[in-house]
Amino acid sequence: MDFQISYITPEQSGECAPSPVALDPLCSTLLIPLAARAFGDARFPQVAVHDVYAAPALQRMGADVSHFLKDLPSVYGVLSRTQVFRQLASDFFQRHPGATGVNLGCGLACYFQWLDQGDNHWIDADKPQVMRLRDRLLPADGERQRSADIDLTAPHWWHDLQLPSGAQAEPVLVILEGVLMYLQPGQVESLLREFGDHAPPGSELLCDTFSWMAVGCAALHASVCHTHAEFNWGLKRMSDLTAPHPRRRIKSEHPIMEGYDIATSVIFTSFRAFWGVPLYAIMRLTVDEESRPSVRLN
Ligand SMILES: C[S@@+](CC[C@H](N)C(=O)[O-])C[C@H]1O[C@@H](n2cnc3c(N)ncnc32)[C@H](O)[C@@H]1O
Repeated sequence: MDFQISYITPEQSGECAPSPVALDPLCSTLLIPLAARAFGDARFPQVAVHDVYAAPALQRMGADVSHFLKDLPSVYGVLSRTQVFRQLASDFFQRHPGATGVNLGCGLACYFQWLDQGDNHWIDADKPQVMRLRDRLLPADGERQRSADIDLTAPHWWHDLQLPSGAQAEPVLVILEGVLMYLQPGQVESLLREFGDHAPPGSELLCDTFSWMAVGCAALHASVCHTHAEFNWGLKRMSDLTAPHPRRRIKSEHPIMEGYDIATSVIFTSFRAFWGVPLYAIMRLTVDEESRPSVRLN
């Protein structure tokens, strides 16, 4: 089932409004974080993100997002995770001022508004239907910025995005925010393998992960249930992110929901301690130097 977005009419907006488009269930999930970044700051000032593009984009779209805004834990979670992604990305560019960052499955997020540090480069990439929506609703790419159509379930996205590769190349920052849980396990492994195979040493991949317990349970999620998308992948063990590849390492793990309230903090902390994986968190992966075949000494 497609998720219909009805735009405000040109008469209402006083300008030439785009014609209505249909987003498939997976793409329509972009409205959840967009609504939170547009309207969540006032409700949760402690994690406010001050996104200057989200509210105008939603206004132009005329989509009804009131049901998403009633799901307060998700609104908090989006703002909290945005703050963490932003901080980790900013730290990365402090260390690598001329490097490239890429937001895979970017939806209508605009991280470069916070991350433009003068010399770095930025790519926003998503499925074509989402990128056309960006063309209509968001400002054109600025200097050192570009957009790309991508299908993350297809191979060679590293090459298709013309990202640097090789031991001497500048490290790359990859963000996957609110994306991996919707992909099939094999697709997640291929996507992570591409990072492990091609990313120059020192590159980082930032992603949020659900636990395996969320798989198949999107209908129980107060926001995602409205989109008809499904959760298909979740962490069973931490090594799911690293083990099949010789170069990938987990550098750090960052909580998202623990500041929401005391009960949530207890639940999330206990879950992590008992099951050995977080219920929901941000993972920071990196890649080692090129792995070399082991030498047999006789
Ligand atoms: C929950 S939204 C998150 C959007 C954005 N990262 C954010 O946090 O605002 C999930 C996004 O993943 C994108 N996505 C899902 N599967 C994809 C695929 N195979 N290739 C490219 N993008 C994909 C969707 O189009 C959608 O924009």
